[in-house]
Amino acid sequence: MSIEKKPFLLILFVFILMMIGTYVTVIVPLLDESLNTPTPDTTDYTALEKAGRKVYIKDGCVNCHTQQIRSLLEETQRYGMGEEETFKRFGVRTLIQAPPSQPGEYVYDKPHLLGTRRTGPDLARVGGKYDNSWHINHLRDPRSTSPGSIMPSHTWLFDKKGKPSKDARALVSYLQKLGNNIKWREEGLKQYRKLHPEKKEILDKEDIKKEETDPSTEEIKEQKKDGEKND
Ligand code: HEC
Repeated sequence: MSIEKKPFLLILFVFILMMIGTYVTVIVPLLDESLNTPTPDTTDYTALEKAGRKVYIKDGCVNCHTQQIRSLLEETQRYGMGEEETFKRFGVRTLIQAPPSQPGEYVYDKPHLLGTRRTGPDLARVGGKYDNSWHINHLRDPRSTSPGSIMPSHTWLFDKKGKPSKDARALVSYLQKLGNNIKWREEGLKQYRKLHPEKKEILDKEDIKKEETDPSTEEIKEQKKDGEKND
Protein backbone atom coordinates (compact mmCIF):
# COMPACT_ATOMS: atom_id res chain seq x y z
CA MET A 1 0.00 0.00 0.00
CA SER A 2 1.43 3.38 -0.93
CA ILE A 3 0.21 5.92 1.65
CA GLU A 4 0.95 8.99 -0.52
CA LYS A 5 -1.94 8.03 -2.81
CA LYS A 6 -4.48 8.11 0.04
CA PRO A 7 -4.83 11.76 1.15
CA PHE A 8 -6.94 11.06 4.23
CA LEU A 9 -4.57 8.41 5.57
CA LEU A 10 -1.58 10.60 4.79
CA ILE A 11 -3.02 13.56 6.74
CA LEU A 12 -3.88 11.29 9.67
CA PHE A 13 -0.40 9.81 9.62
CA VAL A 14 1.27 13.26 9.58
CA PHE A 15 -1.04 14.43 12.37
CA ILE A 16 -0.13 11.48 14.60
CA LEU A 17 3.58 12.02 13.95
CA MET A 18 3.26 15.71 14.86
CA MET A 19 1.40 14.84 18.06
CA ILE A 20 4.22 12.48 19.07
CA GLY A 21 6.73 15.23 18.29
CA THR A 22 4.79 17.80 20.34
CA TYR A 23 4.49 15.40 23.24
CA VAL A 24 8.20 14.64 23.35
CA THR A 25 9.49 18.18 22.78
CA VAL A 26 6.85 20.27 24.60
CA ILE A 27 4.69 18.25 27.02
CA VAL A 28 7.42 16.09 28.56
CA PRO A 29 9.68 19.08 29.37
CA LEU A 30 6.70 20.99 30.83
CA LEU A 31 6.10 18.11 33.25
CA ASP A 32 9.78 18.01 34.25
CA GLU A 33 9.94 19.41 37.79
CA SER A 34 13.65 20.15 37.62
CA LEU A 35 12.99 22.97 35.14
CA ASN A 36 11.06 24.94 37.75
CA THR A 37 13.04 23.97 40.86
CA PRO A 38 15.93 26.32 41.56
CA THR A 39 19.28 24.75 42.49
CA PRO A 40 20.01 25.30 46.24
CA ASP A 41 22.04 28.49 45.73
CA THR A 42 19.95 30.01 42.94
CA THR A 43 18.66 33.44 43.92
CA ASP A 44 16.59 36.00 42.06
CA TYR A 45 18.34 39.02 40.54
CA THR A 46 18.69 42.19 42.61
CA ALA A 47 17.23 45.40 41.17
CA LEU A 48 20.66 46.43 39.87
CA GLU A 49 21.31 43.04 38.29
CA LYS A 50 17.88 43.13 36.67
CA ALA A 51 18.66 46.53 35.19
CA GLY A 52 21.95 45.08 33.91
CA ARG A 53 20.11 42.18 32.33
CA LYS A 54 17.98 44.66 30.42
CA VAL A 55 21.10 46.38 29.10
CA TYR A 56 22.47 42.96 28.09
CA ILE A 57 19.29 42.32 26.08
CA LYS A 58 19.08 45.84 24.64
CA ASP A 59 22.70 45.92 23.49
CA GLY A 60 22.41 42.53 21.84
CA CYS A 61 25.17 40.75 23.77
CA VAL A 62 23.15 37.57 23.22
CA ASN A 63 23.93 37.76 19.49
CA CYS A 64 27.58 36.96 20.17
CA HIS A 65 27.53 35.25 23.57
CA THR A 66 25.82 32.09 24.82
CA GLN A 67 25.01 31.32 28.44
CA GLN A 68 25.18 27.54 28.63
CA ILE A 69 28.03 25.24 29.57
CA ARG A 70 27.52 21.81 28.03
CA SER A 71 28.79 18.69 29.75
CA LEU A 72 31.79 18.34 27.45
CA LEU A 73 35.32 18.29 28.79
CA GLU A 74 36.26 21.01 26.29
CA GLU A 75 33.74 23.37 27.87
CA THR A 76 34.05 22.53 31.57
CA GLN A 77 37.81 23.00 31.24
CA ARG A 78 37.72 26.09 29.07
CA TYR A 79 35.19 27.96 31.21
CA GLY A 80 36.58 26.73 34.52
CA MET A 81 39.19 28.53 36.58
CA GLY A 82 42.25 28.08 34.39
CA GLU A 83 45.75 27.56 35.74
CA GLU A 84 46.74 31.07 34.64
CA GLU A 85 43.82 32.58 36.46
CA THR A 86 44.32 30.75 39.77
CA PHE A 87 48.03 31.54 39.53
CA LYS A 88 47.38 35.26 39.04
CA ARG A 89 44.79 35.41 41.79
CA PHE A 90 45.98 32.95 44.39
CA GLY A 91 49.57 32.18 43.53
CA VAL A 92 48.80 28.53 42.81
CA ARG A 93 48.59 26.65 39.53
CA THR A 94 45.46 24.56 39.31
CA LEU A 95 42.57 23.91 36.96
CA ILE A 96 39.11 23.95 38.51
CA GLN A 97 36.50 22.75 36.03
CA ALA A 98 33.25 24.67 35.60
CA PRO A 99 30.14 22.62 36.36
CA PRO A 100 27.83 22.14 33.34
CA SER A 101 24.75 24.38 33.38
CA GLN A 102 21.73 22.98 35.19
CA PRO A 103 18.08 23.79 34.39
CA GLY A 104 17.44 24.98 37.97
CA GLU A 105 19.90 27.84 37.50
CA TYR A 106 17.66 29.49 34.91
CA VAL A 107 14.33 29.67 36.76
CA TYR A 108 14.55 33.47 37.15
CA ASP A 109 15.63 34.02 33.53
CA LYS A 110 12.55 35.19 31.73
CA PRO A 111 13.24 35.23 28.87
CA HIS A 112 16.32 33.02 29.08
CA LEU A 113 19.44 34.20 27.26
CA LEU A 114 20.92 30.83 26.34
CA GLY A 115 21.90 32.18 22.93
CA THR A 116 22.79 30.28 19.80
CA ARG A 117 25.98 31.90 18.53
CA ARG A 118 29.43 31.92 20.00
CA THR A 119 31.25 34.71 18.24
CA GLY A 120 32.61 35.43 21.70
CA PRO A 121 33.10 33.00 24.60
CA ASP A 122 30.26 31.59 26.67
CA LEU A 123 29.39 33.81 29.64
CA ALA A 124 27.44 31.34 31.80
CA ARG A 125 30.29 31.13 34.36
CA VAL A 126 31.94 34.50 33.86
CA GLY A 127 30.88 35.89 37.28
CA GLY A 128 33.91 36.19 39.56
CA LYS A 129 36.38 35.50 36.76
CA TYR A 130 37.47 39.14 36.53
CA ASP A 131 37.07 42.09 38.87
CA ASN A 132 34.65 44.92 38.15
CA SER A 133 37.27 47.30 36.79
CA TRP A 134 38.35 44.68 34.23
CA HIS A 135 34.77 44.52 32.92
CA ILE A 136 34.47 48.31 32.80
CA ASN A 137 37.73 48.62 30.83
CA HIS A 138 36.72 45.73 28.58
CA LEU A 139 33.33 47.24 27.75
CA ARG A 140 34.90 50.65 27.08
CA ASP A 141 37.60 49.18 24.85
CA PRO A 142 37.82 45.39 24.53
CA ARG A 143 41.28 45.73 22.93
CA SER A 144 42.67 47.20 26.16
CA THR A 145 42.15 43.96 28.08
CA SER A 146 42.00 41.40 25.25
CA PRO A 147 44.45 42.37 22.48
CA GLY A 148 43.04 41.70 19.02
CA SER A 149 39.47 41.33 20.28
CA ILE A 150 36.72 41.81 17.69
CA MET A 151 34.13 42.74 20.32
CA PRO A 152 32.77 46.25 19.61
CA SER A 153 33.63 49.08 22.02
CA HIS A 154 30.46 49.95 23.92
CA THR A 155 31.21 53.68 23.98
CA TRP A 156 27.57 54.64 24.51
CA LEU A 157 27.77 53.16 28.01
CA PHE A 158 30.33 55.83 28.97
CA ASP A 159 30.38 59.62 29.12
CA LYS A 160 32.88 61.76 27.19
CA LYS A 161 35.48 61.45 29.92
CA GLY A 162 35.15 57.67 29.87
CA LYS A 163 33.24 57.41 33.14
CA PRO A 164 30.85 54.44 33.20
CA SER A 165 27.13 55.25 33.14
CA LYS A 166 24.59 53.67 35.46
CA ASP A 167 23.80 51.21 32.68
CA ALA A 168 27.44 50.13 32.46
CA ARG A 169 27.66 49.53 36.21
CA ALA A 170 24.38 47.63 36.23
CA LEU A 171 25.62 45.49 33.34
CA VAL A 172 28.83 44.64 35.21
CA SER A 173 26.87 43.71 38.30
CA TYR A 174 24.75 41.39 36.12
CA LEU A 175 27.86 39.82 34.56
CA GLN A 176 29.31 39.18 38.03
CA LYS A 177 26.15 37.30 38.98
CA LEU A 178 26.37 34.89 36.03
CA GLY A 179 27.33 31.39 37.07
CA ASN A 180 27.19 32.03 40.80
CA ASN A 181 23.95 30.11 41.24
CA ILE A 182 26.33 27.24 41.87
CA LYS A 183 29.13 28.10 44.29
CA TRP A 184 31.70 26.30 42.20
CA ARG A 185 34.62 28.73 42.50
CA GLU A 186 34.49 28.61 46.29
CA GLU A 187 33.97 24.83 46.31
CA GLY A 188 36.83 24.28 43.89
CA LEU A 189 39.24 26.32 45.94
CA LYS A 190 38.07 24.66 49.16
CA GLN A 191 38.89 21.26 47.69
CA TYR A 192 42.21 22.56 46.47
CA ARG A 193 42.98 23.79 49.99
CA LYS A 194 42.26 20.31 51.35
CA LEU A 195 44.54 18.66 48.80
CA HIS A 196 47.35 21.16 49.35
CA PRO A 197 47.38 22.27 52.99
CA GLU A 198 50.87 23.70 52.43
CA LYS A 199 49.34 26.44 50.24
CA LYS A 200 46.99 27.68 52.94
CA GLU A 201 48.96 30.80 53.71
CA ILE A 202 49.16 31.98 50.11
CA LEU A 203 45.45 31.37 49.53
CA ASP A 204 44.43 33.22 52.70
CA LYS A 205 46.72 36.15 51.96
CA GLU A 206 45.56 36.52 48.36
CA ASP A 207 41.90 36.35 49.40
CA ILE A 208 42.30 39.25 51.78
CA LYS A 209 44.51 41.24 49.43
CA LYS A 210 41.95 41.00 46.64
CA GLU A 211 39.12 42.33 48.78
CA GLU A 212 41.24 45.23 49.97
CA THR A 213 42.60 46.27 46.60
CA ASP A 214 39.45 46.24 44.52
CA PRO A 215 37.91 49.72 44.85
CA SER A 216 35.35 49.13 42.13
CA THR A 217 33.75 46.41 44.24
CA GLU A 218 32.82 49.09 46.77
CA GLU A 219 31.33 51.27 44.04
CA ILE A 220 29.16 48.45 42.80
CA LYS A 221 28.12 47.59 46.35
CA GLU A 222 26.96 51.16 46.82
CA GLN A 223 25.03 51.01 43.56
CA LYS A 224 23.47 47.76 44.62
CA LYS A 225 22.13 49.42 47.77
CA ASP A 226 20.74 52.30 45.67
CA GLY A 227 19.12 49.89 43.26
CA GLU A 228 17.49 47.88 46.01
CA LYS A 229 16.03 51.04 47.50
CA ASN A 230 14.46 51.96 44.16
CA ASP A 231 12.91 48.56 43.69
C1 HEC B 1 30.23 41.20 17.69
C2 HEC B 1 30.21 40.22 18.74
C3 HEC B 1 30.17 40.63 20.19
C4 HEC B 1 29.22 41.39 20.84
C5 HEC B 1 28.01 42.10 20.25
C6 HEC B 1 29.58 41.36 22.23
N1 HEC B 1 30.71 40.63 22.42
FE1 HEC B 1 31.61 40.21 24.21
N2 HEC B 1 33.10 39.22 23.25
C7 HEC B 1 33.19 39.03 21.89
C8 HEC B 1 34.46 38.38 21.59
C9 HEC B 1 34.93 38.01 20.20
C10 HEC B 1 35.12 38.17 22.83
C11 HEC B 1 36.50 37.52 23.07
C12 HEC B 1 37.62 38.55 23.08
C13 HEC B 1 37.52 39.49 24.26
O1 HEC B 1 37.76 39.09 25.40
O2 HEC B 1 37.20 40.67 24.05
C14 HEC B 1 34.23 38.71 23.86
C15 HEC B 1 34.50 38.66 25.21
C16 HEC B 1 33.63 39.07 26.20
C17 HEC B 1 33.84 38.88 27.63
C18 HEC B 1 35.03 38.17 28.28
C19 HEC B 1 34.72 36.70 28.42
C20 HEC B 1 35.82 35.89 29.00
O3 HEC B 1 35.53 34.84 29.55
O4 HEC B 1 36.99 36.30 28.89
C21 HEC B 1 32.78 39.44 28.27
C22 HEC B 1 32.54 39.51 29.76
C23 HEC B 1 31.91 39.99 27.24
N3 HEC B 1 32.44 39.74 26.01
C24 HEC B 1 30.73 40.66 27.51
C25 HEC B 1 29.93 41.23 26.52
C26 HEC B 1 28.76 42.03 26.81
C27 HEC B 1 28.25 42.35 28.21
C28 HEC B 1 28.25 42.42 25.62
C29 HEC B 1 27.05 43.32 25.37
C30 HEC B 1 27.11 44.65 25.94
C31 HEC B 1 29.09 41.85 24.58
N4 HEC B 1 30.08 41.13 25.17
C32 HEC B 1 28.85 42.00 23.22
C33 HEC B 1 32.24 39.38 20.95
C34 HEC B 1 31.11 40.17 21.19
